[in-house]
Parts: sequence; structure tokens; C-alpha cells
Amino acid sequence: MLDLLITHASLPDGRKNMSVAVQNGKIVDVTEGPIDGAQARETVDARGYLLSPPFCDPHFHMDATLSYGLPRVNESGTLLEGIALWGELKPTLRAEDMIERALTYCDWAVAKGLLAIRSHVDTSDPSLLPVRAMLEVKKRVASYIDLQLVAFPQDGVLRTRGGLDSLKQALDLGVDVVGGIPHFERTMAQGAESVRLLCELAAQQGKLVDMHCDESDDPLSRHIETLAYETQRLGLQGRVTGSHLTSMHSMDNYYVSKLIPLIAEAGVSAVANPLINITLQGRHDTYPKRRGMTRVPELMAGGVTVAFGHDCVMDPWYSLGSGDMLEVAHMGLHVAQMTSQQGMRACYNAVTTHAAKVMHLQGHGLEVGCDASFVLLQARDTIEALRLRANRLKVWKHGTLLASAAEATAQLLIDGRPSTTHYRTQP
Ligand code: FE2
Repeated sequence: MLDLLITHASLPDGRKNMSVAVQNGKIVDVTEGPIDGAQARETVDARGYLLSPPFCDPHFHMDATLSYGLPRVNESGTLLEGIALWGELKPTLRAEDMIERALTYCDWAVAKGLLAIRSHVDTSDPSLLPVRAMLEVKKRVASYIDLQLVAFPQDGVLRTRGGLDSLKQALDLGVDVVGGIPHFERTMAQGAESVRLLCELAAQQGKLVDMHCDESDDPLSRHIETLAYETQRLGLQGRVTGSHLTSMHSMDNYYVSKLIPLIAEAGVSAVANPLINITLQGRHDTYPKRRGMTRVPELMAGGVTVAFGHDCVMDPWYSLGSGDMLEVAHMGLHVAQMTSQQGMRACYNAVTTHAAKVMHLQGHGLEVGCDASFVLLQARDTIEALRLRANRLKVWKHGTLLASAAEATAQLLIDGRPSTTHYRTQP
């Protein structure tokens, strides 16, 4: 007897009329049409809707989320005012408030089918209050969200007195990944030095690396080159991520033609944050204003794993957001002009399979042996899911239903005659 059987599902790779069988929290069968003799405690007819692996956010700031307006809003909209505002807020933070806000965000995430989040956590203050608070959140949400934490020295690991010690202490407390922010150190040389030190630390401790890297419109901000070099030198291939990489948007094409193969050779992944990049970058421009997002299709074509992150929701840097990774991918495909069918599917993968790869998640996917964690969307395929930012009808984690929503419909009265529309292309 199976625990759960889903029938008539469409899958992200285009297969239709699929049955997915679940036992003990794992997928045990994926077959076209009915599964012979299958009996299950619960059967869900997907009625042709898309069954997708859960959404994953490879870049977020859980310690700052839902703090919008505290103590004031970001008037200029720049990255630097956001960092300054966060600096004003930090001395007033209380662990219980941060935990409460983070748990609220995790509820939003589950409702949107977002079941894995990599969050950077500020380690600049020696009290490590945000780190302790987020470790508590990680423990409390463990049964429904994979929360991965990155030790993030927001004010610069070398620029902050005792910054490296605080970061090491965060790792000792159980933070999973080594972070960094080389473009915010005092000089280019100090930025490069921070990359070297932090990669060496990760190599010594067997940790992954995920650095905020070159989040700038300055085409000469080239710390990604150093990150790729140190990855290569220390044998960290496949274990390092460069987040943002927005300076690549403004770099000289000739230099980029050398850089992308170096990133690919080092096995460094890239995370773009479309909602935030399009909002924060280009703020010093008049017209034309640069978009600021890194070169997503070119990196993908060069063999680099590229994922999209949400980065911020209602915090000193961004006033909007709802934990919806389809909104992130939708913005990403517009900013990157990835409007071909292949391009749109790649954007969907950037918030599912590619994001899971960046995070080194095990068991993510819809193959036999994967975790029975998936989302039923009110859409027929991944492109329709993007177009509609589709309703999440059901969300399961390890075969257990976590969230459900009614189908979105609108009752119309055209010329006094009632009719119904489902906002989709095919009945
Ligand atoms: Fe970030």
C-alpha cells in the first residue's frame, strides 16, 4: 500500500499524464499512465496540472526580512543607504522579534512552495545575535524548510575590527557556509585579500563558500576573478558560489570573454537576484540606466550553473516581495531578455533544479529515490507557471501535505450572463 499516489500530472520536462507514487517520504515510481495494481492511502488527481520539484531560494537575508520601515525607509533606494539603514537598525534588534519575523516569512514561503532557503546572516557584530536567532529559526522550521545559513560579514570581514573572529565563531556555532563581501572592503587589494582568507578558511573547515561578489556598477570590480582563482588553487571546484556579480553587467566584453571560461573552469556557480539587481543597481546613472543584473544567458551558455535568488523581502533594501520564486524568475527572464522557450525554461530551472544544485541539496527532483517534496501548480507547464505566477494548489514535504489553496477562478457577468475563466490557455 502506497502512502500517496498522484495521477494525471504534467512534469516540468514536458511529460504528460504521469503517475507519481510515494512511500515513506520518497518517490518510488514515476510512470506514464496508471501504475498497475497501485493502491494508495490517498490519491490526488492532478487533472493535467504541473507537478514540480519545490522552489529553492539560493540567496536570502532572513535576519533582515519583514523589517521594512524600521527605523525608517530607504529614501535613495541605493545599496549603500540600505547597508547604512541596516547599521542603524542592528543595535535595536531583539532576537525574539527577528525569530518571529523569520517564522512568519517561512509560513509565506511554504504557501508558495518554497521549501529550501539559503540565508546569509550578518556576523559583523561580536554578539552574533542574528546568528543565534537564525540558528533557532533553522531548528524550528527543520521539518518543513531546509534553511542553510551563510556567515556573512556585512560590514567587511577586514573592514570590521574582529570581523574574522566573529565569522569563525559563527561557523563554530553551526553556520553552514562561508560568506564574504570583497567589494565592500576598504580597497581592491583588501577585497582580494578577504577572498583569499575566506576561501582558505572554507578549505580548512570543509565548508561551502557563497560570497556577495562585485555587487556594484563598477566595471573594474573584478573580485570574481580572484574567487575563481582561489577556488582553483585550493581545490574547491563545485563548492563555491559568486552571488550578484552585477559588475559583470558593466564590464568590457573582451575581458568577459576571458572571465566566463575561468568561472566555468573553476566550477564556480553564479546567483543573480533579479528583483534586487534591477532595483538597486544603476542608481548613479542618468539615462540610459543600466539594468545591473549579471550576464545570465552568457554564463549559462558558458557552462556555469546559474540560479536566481529573492535576496530581500520587505527590508532596508527592498520594500516588496512575498516569497514567490516565480515572481523572481519572471523578473529574471525579463531583465535577461530570456524570452525564447528554452530561455524561459532555464529561468524556471534557476529557481528549482539549478538553485538546488547551488545549495548542494540531496533528494531534490522528481525521479525515483528523490524526496517526495513537490508542488502542484495551477498551470499546464513551466512557461504557463511563469506567465501566471501560478497558484500553488498543494505543497508536500516528504509526502506530507503542508499547504493547499483553492483554484483561482473569476466569476464573470458579461452582458448579464454568468461565465467563469481560469486564466489559462487550454481547458
Ligand atoms: Fe544579498
